[in-house]
Amino acid sequence: MTDVRLIHAQWSSRTAFILAASGSAIGLGNIWKFPYLTGENGGGAFVLIYLLCVIGLGVPIMMAETMLGRRGRQSPINTMRTLADEAGASHLWRYAGWLGVLAGFLILSYYSVIAGWSMIYILKMGSGIFAHTDAEAVARVFSSLKGEPEIQFIWHTVFMVATMSIVSLGVSAGLEKGTRYLMPVLFAMLILLVLYAMTSDGFGQGIAFMFKPDFGRLSGESVLTAMGQAFFSLGLGMGAIMVYGSYLPAHVSIARASLFVAAADTLVALLAGMAIFPIVFANHLEPSMGAGLIFQTLPLAFGQMPGGTLFGMIFFVLIFFAAITSSIALIEPAVAWLAENRGLARQAASFWCGLGCWLLGLGTVYSFNDWAGYTWLGKNFFELIDFLTSDLMLPLGGLAIALFAGWVMTSEVSEAELEMGPGPGYRCWRFLIRYVAPLGVMTIFLKALGAF
Ligand code: PHE
Repeated sequence: MTDVRLIHAQWSSRTAFILAASGSAIGLGNIWKFPYLTGENGGGAFVLIYLLCVIGLGVPIMMAETMLGRRGRQSPINTMRTLADEAGASHLWRYAGWLGVLAGFLILSYYSVIAGWSMIYILKMGSGIFAHTDAEAVARVFSSLKGEPEIQFIWHTVFMVATMSIVSLGVSAGLEKGTRYLMPVLFAMLILLVLYAMTSDGFGQGIAFMFKPDFGRLSGESVLTAMGQAFFSLGLGMGAIMVYGSYLPAHVSIARASLFVAAADTLVALLAGMAIFPIVFANHLEPSMGAGLIFQTLPLAFGQMPGGTLFGMIFFVLIFFAAITSSIALIEPAVAWLAENRGLARQAASFWCGLGCWLLGLGTVYSFNDWAGYTWLGKNFFELIDFLTSDLMLPLGGLAIALFAGWVMTSEVSEAELEMGPGPGYRCWRFLIRYVAPLGVMTIFLKALGAF
């Protein structure tokens, strides 16, 4: 074991870690999923619960997950086993690692399909079909895409091949550079879109929808969805940040890095919402239209903007880039485990993981057309996998991490590893991780079950 820990690769610097962690956090979750979930769950109250979950559960768990990764310095399953040994605890903790590996694998299967949609929209935007168009025409383009499994199949395949090629090359320096330059451009374009939204008639209504809580519209399941989205968007509870933490050199402030990543991630999600809801209201669309929301609103805005064809194309290229940096994080725990434990070469491990995800992703491709009628608990295949992973597996993984870091690991170890000293910062983290995070997750689970 010690050997693995010694030879394990490391990031060149704190910046490199922050770039990789932001790349994992900022993705389709911010730009595609956050707006449509907010729309489906009634707006302001959902956003408020989401923000509370990011602060109260997300940040402390992100610190804990990074810390466990750095201390274990292996893939999540082996890290959990080694750290359990170190603390004299049961090997059963490694199942928390397993849960994460499986969650990442399941998420990537549908993530790749939606990333495929974004790639199709690069071409659609570029072709100029959205110039000066109206809401009905934009909706028609989207529903015909949803109805055609063949084209989704092709782009899902392209995206999966791209992801797995990068993963098979190992911790990738090229992507780090890409993140450094492209994320600020994404940020700038979102601000541009929000400025544009300010000039539309729907701005006031859009902002009120997002920021004026109406708790009457919030069900127990919505609260669960908000928590799941916090985990999903920050990329927590499944070992991705643990893997990245395992490459982190000593003496880097985990607290500061986590706060930065969480703040950047949240800002991007809020900006995306502030860009999209005004378009929704200005065009008399339904905020609750579901997974197609960005594909039916953004083309409208770009279509009306001067230079919109080019801007729109660039925007979808950026979404694609944000998606691929997240996909790599989603599958890395599985690939790292296969390479470490099964003695597979990195290329072979990537190939098998990619093939599995690709196959499973076909279920999502068909859940928008031929299989739309097959539902369970009112959810189609895509919705079921999403519910199982975001709303159940990630929060459960987060709960396990919180319990392990707060109750199994001794305070000497966590204090030394976080390097914050014994001051108020550390005490605040310890309180959050021991009490607030576990009780928060459990309360929300019980509320969703209708216990109160
Ligand atoms: N955070 C990513 C997004 O918002 C998705 C993701 C989830 C990445 C879990 C890694 C781990 O798109």
